[in-house]
Amino acid sequence: MKNINTINKNTLTENLKTKWLAQKLIYLPNVDSTNQEVKRIAFDYPHGTAVVAEQQTAGKGRLGRIWSSPKGTGLWFSILLKPNISPDQMSGITLVCGLGVCKAIRKYTGLNALIKWPNDIIIGNKKICGILTEMKAEADIISYAVAGIGINVNTTEFDEDIKHKATSLSVEANTAIDRAELFKEIMLYLEKSFDDYFSKPDKAISDEYIKLCATLGRNVTVARGNTIFNGKAVGVEATGDLLVEIADGTIIQVSSGEVTVQGIY
Ligand code: BTN
Repeated sequence: MKNINTINKNTLTENLKTKWLAQKLIYLPNVDSTNQEVKRIAFDYPHGTAVVAEQQTAGKGRLGRIWSSPKGTGLWFSILLKPNISPDQMSGITLVCGLGVCKAIRKYTGLNALIKWPNDIIIGNKKICGILTEMKAEADIISYAVAGIGINVNTTEFDEDIKHKATSLSVEANTAIDRAELFKEIMLYLEKSFDDYFSKPDKAISDEYIKLCATLGRNVTVARGNTIFNGKAVGVEATGDLLVEIADGTIIQVSSGEVTVQGIY
């Protein structure tokens, strides 16, 4: 019987149906961070290269946080991208990744995964996936971008500090998930999302994103400088900024560091 707990270069690539994404794939049993590894190899490897690790010893989250990445449980991977877009279109890559991963998870597991703006993936009010995008740009040109994606797949135990706000696909589905098959499904959906975005880089937000965005319609708290105000998330700009309607009816445009969604971790 196939051991669904195994990932290796073979299981991650056999019957992979993408045209360019992850056609070059590096599998590492152990690494500090797949984002760091992509940065080390960026100049020698092509657009679309994927680095997948069984375990990360220094997984990085957003805002300098640590991303817990134990062995045998999750999908921890990063994609090297060399798109022909300007640095200010870069934030779109993050949004587009969130959409691709969310759709693949929905398709593969049947679970009601949604996007917490801008790009966390949640089930119920708990997080199952985080995305950290980094880039190297010179003047007006992106040399490369790294899209790092971490998914709690078969995780059953969570660190004390994230217990109340994290979940995994196996906990939600009540069954173990085949990580290699899920990875290949994600590659297919991500490739489609990237192709759409790179051909129209002014449009990071699609109707599909809006439909799957759990933040819209919810009450949010915005912290801007020393001022804190409450409002309702009513839309997402083409650029990716969130539109929040505050008490007097004014609509303000906010960026990700400023917002907390009420009712979701
Ligand atoms: C977040 O804080 O929500 C982003 C988490 C991103 C984690 C992934 S795991 C694969 C890749 N390598 C890293 O070191 N971080 C990203």
